[in-house]
Amino acid sequence: MKQITIAGGTGKSSILIGERIQHLPRYLTDRRTIIITDETVADIYGRDFPEAPVIRIGTGEAVKTLETVTAIYQQLIALAADRSVFLLGIGGGIVCDITGFAASTWLRGVDFGYAPTTLLAQVDASVGGKTGVNFSGYKNMVGVFSQPGVVVCDPFVLKTLPPRELACGFAEIVKHGAIFDAGYFSRLEKTAARAMALEPDVLEQVIYDSVAIKAAIVNQDEIEKGERRKLNFGHTFGHAVEKICGIPHGEAVSIGMMVAAMLSVNRKMLSLADVDRLRRLLQAFRLPTDIGKDLEMDPEKVLDALLRDKKRVGDGICFVLLRAMGCAVVEKIAVSELREVMDTVLFR
Ligand SMILES: NC(=O)c1ccc[n+]([C@@H]2O[C@H](COP(=O)([O-])OP(=O)(O)OC[C@H]3O[C@@H](n4cnc5c(N)ncnc54)[C@H](O)[C@@H]3O)[C@@H](O)[C@H]2O)c1
Ligand SMILES: [Zn+2]
Repeated sequence: MKQITIAGGTGKSSILIGERIQHLPRYLTDRRTIIITDETVADIYGRDFPEAPVIRIGTGEAVKTLETVTAIYQQLIALAADRSVFLLGIGGGIVCDITGFAASTWLRGVDFGYAPTTLLAQVDASVGGKTGVNFSGYKNMVGVFSQPGVVVCDPFVLKTLPPRELACGFAEIVKHGAIFDAGYFSRLEKTAARAMALEPDVLEQVIYDSVAIKAAIVNQDEIEKGERRKLNFGHTFGHAVEKICGIPHGEAVSIGMMVAAMLSVNRKMLSLADVDRLRRLLQAFRLPTDIGKDLEMDPEKVLDALLRDKKRVGDGICFVLLRAMGCAVVEKIAVSELREVMDTVLFR
């Protein structure tokens, strides 16, 4: 087992990688624990949960709402949950984001922790203290920064994850290597097949390396004023693709990373050889990389969705580009430049 610590202004977070969910009681103090989970995770892993009342929510992005938070508050009242309570979210990113938000607002904030059960939640959603819900069709529109006291990442629970969900986690993992650590990117190229096969040692190391990168970035810039923006690599175009094509987040981010890489080539920052490496690694994780072949989408609709995105500044859009493999920069891209790359490279 390995440990990584985030020490932020919004709290301290101890992230344990390689610990089993059966050992969760070791990390619960004498506080009264209440578990928040979703139906699927409760059905598969309920018998491994610590002894504690369980609040179940539904599954899917549609349940990530204030209504669900209200239902949790009501159950907390029924359970007479006072300020001494500890809320433990066991599940994917949705359970983590909702648990963190409910805990941070219940009685002005009670302690909480996560046992993330998807790869995406282990390497991304449970790390960094962003909590919240969707509002009126907008993703993560309402929320607070607040660090989970403890996060227990058990690689063994990933065995039951559907392959497409697993691939979404790997998209964020590739992103971490691409933006921050060329050595990690190279190691991923060598170990991709074994990580995909969920070989415990390899998987634990990959989760550790990714959490370490995200934690380092968050430790520098907890509330996203600068450095943390680099974690949006692939997400500017990716969010638009996600909206228009309705494909899973990680798959859309995979396409988005290819677009950002081509924009980087257009600015003479990245070599085509590095774009090829990125493509091959994403493909090794069964992620889509070719807009024309892998997806049927109307470039105009994607551009339209992108221009409505909140990250637009003046006549340009902030994109995270790669100066080299392992080194990200945030640059403003004019709509005309994006259009040019889309016309000449992406939708030929
Ligand atoms: N807070 C952050 O910094 C942050 C970062 C990235 C993503 N997110 C959020 O995370 C959410 C996505 O998280 P996700 O990808 O984990 O999705 P998710 O929580 O919807 O989980 C995916 C599906 O897998 C099921 N599942 C979970 N664990 C399982 C397991 N071990 N075996 C079998 N099935 C399992 C769930 O029931 C669900 O149906 C989004 O709402 C996103 O906004 C937050
Ligand atoms: Zn993402």
